[in-house]
Amino acid sequence: MKEKIERLLAEIEELKAQKEQEIEEIRVKLLGKKGSVTQLFDEFRDVLPEQKRELGQVLNKLKVAANQKIEELKSFLEENQQPVESKYDLTKPGDLVELGGRHPISITRDEILSIFNKFGYVLAEGPEIEDDWHVFGALNFPPEHPARDMQDTFFISGGDNPVLLRTHTSSVQVRAMEKMKLPIRIVCPGRVFRNEAISARAHCIFHQVEGLYIDTKVSFADLKQAVLLFVREMFGEDAQIRLRPSYFPFTEPSAEVDVSCNICKGKGCNICKGTGWLEIMGCGMVDPNVLEANGIDSKVYTGFAFGMGIERIAMLKWQVKDLRHYFENDIRFLKEFETVI
Ligand code: PHE
Repeated sequence: MKEKIERLLAEIEELKAQKEQEIEEIRVKLLGKKGSVTQLFDEFRDVLPEQKRELGQVLNKLKVAANQKIEELKSFLEENQQPVESKYDLTKPGDLVELGGRHPISITRDEILSIFNKFGYVLAEGPEIEDDWHVFGALNFPPEHPARDMQDTFFISGGDNPVLLRTHTSSVQVRAMEKMKLPIRIVCPGRVFRNEAISARAHCIFHQVEGLYIDTKVSFADLKQAVLLFVREMFGEDAQIRLRPSYFPFTEPSAEVDVSCNICKGKGCNICKGTGWLEIMGCGMVDPNVLEANGIDSKVYTGFAFGMGIERIAMLKWQVKDLRHYFENDIRFLKEFETVI
């Protein structure tokens, strides 16, 4: 530190000397023995007597102006090149900049993504403002079908294909089926929206990671194995899973995945409400109607899909009991995660 300060001071001194030298050069050029102003004075001797008065005055003005300018430059240099210590206190400690930390939802999302990344899934993202076709139509929700009630959302426009806020990132899977070459193996993280009353367990905004794998010969056994491997990476080697039959318009068969409670190790506690199991995601085999709606031959290809709420996984991981904490930006809550990388 001290060395650095001394080096800086020496550099500044050198710079000052350099500038002084430059000013001196200007002075010599104008007012030195052979300077242009001095030369004019030599020439003045030969001026006709009747012009002497007028030219003499102008010439003197020029000399005064040149002298003044040089003095000005010198004092400007003096003022701006006062010794550094007097202007800046280089020993003063820096102002503390708080670094902050990452949001628990980001931490959890990245953990989920990196697990699937290891399994060969690539990242796919899409718009939060979507149309009806990508959120519902292409996913086998016919218009007026009661399954739409499970995912009511915020409509931005009406018409045949209304614009709305996406209710799940399955819409990204539709976009991937439209664009990507088969086989497809993707994970889609992102923010989703639903028309829900805000409470400790529900919010109108939350985050998901959904996954899709389409290839020839993909089976339900592959789905189960993928989910189990994920759960073991996320919740520990001895985590167990349980699949319960469920319903989603875009998968058939469909299942709900429970993971063994990592708090009580399956014995039953208040987190798992005494059951020993915690619900973490929905999944199923992609319905042939969905494949066909997206131009994929369902006789050749099969696939599975799954989707989970990041808030839910993060709640289980850190035992956060109220979903609203994630969205309120209360610094006392966020600080709890500062050291988690
Ligand atoms: N999209 C479903 C939801 O948001 C989750 C899901 C994805 C279920 C894929 C099955 C298969 O509720």
